[in-house]
Amino acid sequence: MDTAPNSAARYSRGAIALHWIIALLIVLNFVVAWLSEDMPKEDAAIMMGNHKAIGITILALTAVRIIWKLTHKTPPLVETLKAWEAALAKVTHGLMYLLMLAIPLAGWGLSSAWGKGKPVSMFGLFDVPALPVGSDKPTVGMFHELHEITATLMLVLFALHVGAALKHHLVDKDSTLRRMVPWMK
Ligand code: HEM
Ligand code: HEM
Repeated sequence: MDTAPNSAARYSRGAIALHWIIALLIVLNFVVAWLSEDMPKEDAAIMMGNHKAIGITILALTAVRIIWKLTHKTPPLVETLKAWEAALAKVTHGLMYLLMLAIPLAGWGLSSAWGKGKPVSMFGLFDVPALPVGSDKPTVGMFHELHEITATLMLVLFALHVGAALKHHLVDKDSTLRRMVPWMK
């Protein structure tokens, strides 16, 4: 199939940069959280300090990304998508935006409740204050559950999202992936 007609509608440079930086940081933050589970207590605490700072960075970059999306035109989905594919893509993308906010917010709530109001150190450069939440057991438990459930949901959507991107690139050979990758024409 000739794929040229689709290639005009590309994502803007800013949207592409934000997509890949945030994607990389999210993957990194899963790895950091998982690695810390098998570490001695002191090393795990350092890793979790980094996990929190990376997570707050993701939250801030997501806010920038949403403002970017509201102020720049998003290219319409590739026109050769079937109706169900377009609907599924829209729902998945929407949920991913929601989770990019909900996961770090729940983590921030968890850290604030667990640490009894202790701020989050941003790599030792400056502090981000704790959220004004309680520190009783049910509050800690609630944020913990929320953080875990939202992170797990992101893993499911990630698999679907990457699977779809690869399917469109390798099987359908349309411009879905190319328009999100700066060096692919
Ligand atoms: C997109 C960003 C983030 C992702 C993908 C993420 C993911 C995870 C994952 C997979 C775990 C380990 C398993 C679990 O308990 O569910 C975890 C644990 C944790 N996260 Fe995050 N997180 C993010 C942001 C944050 C932020 C911003 C904070 C705090 C400021 C935070 C605080 C914590 C804490 C305190 C734990 C330990 C929970 C425990 O020991 O069970 N996270 N996170
Ligand atoms: C945790 C990591 C990731 C997150 C949270 C994420 C999130 C998103 C979101 C929200 C969009 C919609 C952008 C918009 O139209 O406003 C998007 C688009 C896209 N993503 Fe990701 N993404 C991630 C990783 C990846 C990876 C690893 C790939 C490739 C293998 C990928 C490929 C794409 C492509 C090709 C598009 C454009 C889809 C289209 O044109 O309809 N993403 N991503």
